[in-house]
Amino acid sequence: MTTLRAGLIGLGSMGRNHARILKGLGGVELVGIVDPQAQDQGAVMGVDVLAELDELLALRPDYVVVACPTALHHQVGLRLAEAGVAALIEKPLAKDPEEAAALVEAFGSRGIVAGVGHIERYNPALQALRSRLEAGELGEVYQVVTRRQGPFPQRISDVGVVLDLATHDIDLTAWVTGQPFVQVAAQTFHKSDNPHEDMVSVTGRLADGVITSHLVNWLTPFKERTTVVTGDKGAFIADTLTADLTFHANGSQPIGWEAIAAFRGVSEGDSTRFALTKREPLLVENERFRDAVLGLDGALDKIVTLEQGLRTVQVAAAVLASARSSESVRLPDQGVR
Ligand SMILES: NC(=O)c1ccc[n+]([C@@H]2O[C@H](COP(=O)([O-])OP(=O)(O)OC[C@H]3O[C@@H](n4cnc5c(N)ncnc54)[C@H](O)[C@@H]3O)[C@@H](O)[C@H]2O)c1
Repeated sequence: MTTLRAGLIGLGSMGRNHARILKGLGGVELVGIVDPQAQDQGAVMGVDVLAELDELLALRPDYVVVACPTALHHQVGLRLAEAGVAALIEKPLAKDPEEAAALVEAFGSRGIVAGVGHIERYNPALQALRSRLEAGELGEVYQVVTRRQGPFPQRISDVGVVLDLATHDIDLTAWVTGQPFVQVAAQTFHKSDNPHEDMVSVTGRLADGVITSHLVNWLTPFKERTTVVTGDKGAFIADTLTADLTFHANGSQPIGWEAIAAFRGVSEGDSTRFALTKREPLLVENERFRDAVLGLDGALDKIVTLEQGLRTVQVAAAVLASARSSESVRLPDQGVR
């Protein structure tokens, strides 16, 4: 296998995890890390920490993982595209739709491989959920509910909880159902010293009529990452902290004239927790991006494209606009994603 030369930008909470993965990734050599605030460390895991992106570009990387603060993704991404370097950009793609669209254009017009680190798509629980929905195991899907609650992360200050955390929920909801958001309505709450919202409650509608609800915040003293999909035959619950997927089936309906005459609601049926093969999502994400850079067959279809990242940022912007105006916001239906 060709050895790819990889670089990393940002050595904070997420960057350190990427560094660990990239150091052990087959067919990849981590050649340099850029972080002006970590530069005094000299080297981390045997890799030089550099102050400037130009120093990394001088090492001629084949691709770079961008894990600096979200507000910098645009300027860093544009420079990588101009230098012809492939990039895996952490989520969200950018802080607003205009910057995200500029990144789509910069990489797309040059034909450079680029992806977004929407890590939940590589969570075994959500991967299994998506396959089972595609196989029709739930029948018609009625509703997707996500809860992503936890304590305040001291590190985030450039964006609020909608861009930082709710973009996970927006992306995974559209991805597991294969349906884009067409409408959102939201309320936000602000408590911290940060200039942005810390709590959001969103209701949404997908292109095929599925309704959604998302509770996302940094103001909860326990951590929760739950997705509940309810449909014709019961409900799936995916817990992406433990990577568990459970199915609660509707009980079988009594047969008889009365039951045919009127819908009588659902009852409890069997519950099944599926045995899943659990691989670390960040490792799978990095393997897939490496394969896309290598140009392996079908690999480009397994990464999250910048267009999909842009769509998620557009929905996040609509959520923020709705919270500001107290009105629901419609999004153009851009087809199944
Ligand atoms: N996929 C996920 O689950 C996930 C989880 C956490 C964070 N993230 C994303 O990763 C990105 C970083 O988040 P974080 O939590 O690691 O933040 P962080 O604040 O912990 O780390 C950011 C790092 O970037 C460095 N930095 C600042 N300016 C820089 C520059 N010009 N060049 C290079 N480095 C620079 C900072 O010194 C810091 O070390 C954000 O976009 C965030 O949304 C994704």
